[in-house]
Amino acid sequence: MADESVAKSFYSVLILAFVCSLLVAGAAVGLRPMQEANKLKDQRKNILYAAGLYEPGTSIDELFKPIETKIVNLSTGKYVPEDQLSPESYDQLKAALTAAGGRLLAPDQDLAGLRRLEKYSLVYLVRNKKDGEISQIILPVRGKGLWSTMYAYVAVDADANTIRGVSFYEHGETPGLGGEIENRRWQDGWQGKKLYTADGKMELKVIKGTVDPSGQQAPYQIDGLSGATLTANGVSKLMEFWFGEHGFKPYLKQLRENQNG
Ligand SMILES: Cc1cc2nc3c(=O)[nH]c(=O)nc-3n(C[C@H](O)[C@H](O)[C@H](O)COP(=O)(O)O)c2cc1C
Repeated sequence: MADESVAKSFYSVLILAFVCSLLVAGAAVGLRPMQEANKLKDQRKNILYAAGLYEPGTSIDELFKPIETKIVNLSTGKYVPEDQLSPESYDQLKAALTAAGGRLLAPDQDLAGLRRLEKYSLVYLVRNKKDGEISQIILPVRGKGLWSTMYAYVAVDADANTIRGVSFYEHGETPGLGGEIENRRWQDGWQGKKLYTADGKMELKVIKGTVDPSGQQAPYQIDGLSGATLTANGVSKLMEFWFGEHGFKPYLKQLRENQNG
């Protein structure tokens, strides 16, 4: 009798566990498209924010409509034709991990701590309504901070040198310390800063302390993050990497050359 009731309880628990696991697995699979849609929306919001085009209360999809998404070959700086690679389905983080879509970075090249770099990157173009000329380009960047990989979009003016805005949107730095990279007030300080000196050297960096606006280097300097110098150094390094030879420098060079003739 006792054996029978133990077996009954055992089977009841087993059935309950099975039903629960089905429910959890079903919810995970069922909610995935929604999670992906939300992730895309969040990315778009941050692209718009970096470009200074985000308007609270207006639909993200509506605001994003005029933004053109393209793919750039990082080593040549040239656009990749859409029939070769579709911007809608291209995932550069996944591509970086493959033999065909990415490559291993040598330690002396790997300033941003990426280990592997994709061959192609997405870029986002904003055009003037009047003449259709490019007014700004938004570029995805990433690199190691103290604890995590930090992800951001950097909007650069058509001069391929002046920063229009930045949006750090994903990281695992400490809230209140390195996490201040998310602070919109700190990000606002990036507007109008220059990437390159007149002789083409990538000069922009996050300094320790506050920028002296009368200083000669002020156009290339971003205010530091107090108590978070290691995260700030990571930001400087990732900028140096992505706006250097292995990142977007060849692309920005192409853009400048096309504008000049
Ligand atoms: C719990 C804990 C979390 C920390 N998180 C960060 C961080 O996210 N980013 C960072 O740069 N420093 C962080 N630090 C501080 C660093 O260890 C280091 O002291 C700091 O980067 C030096 O910056 P400072 O020269 O501006 O003080 C953290 C320290 C502790 C104890």
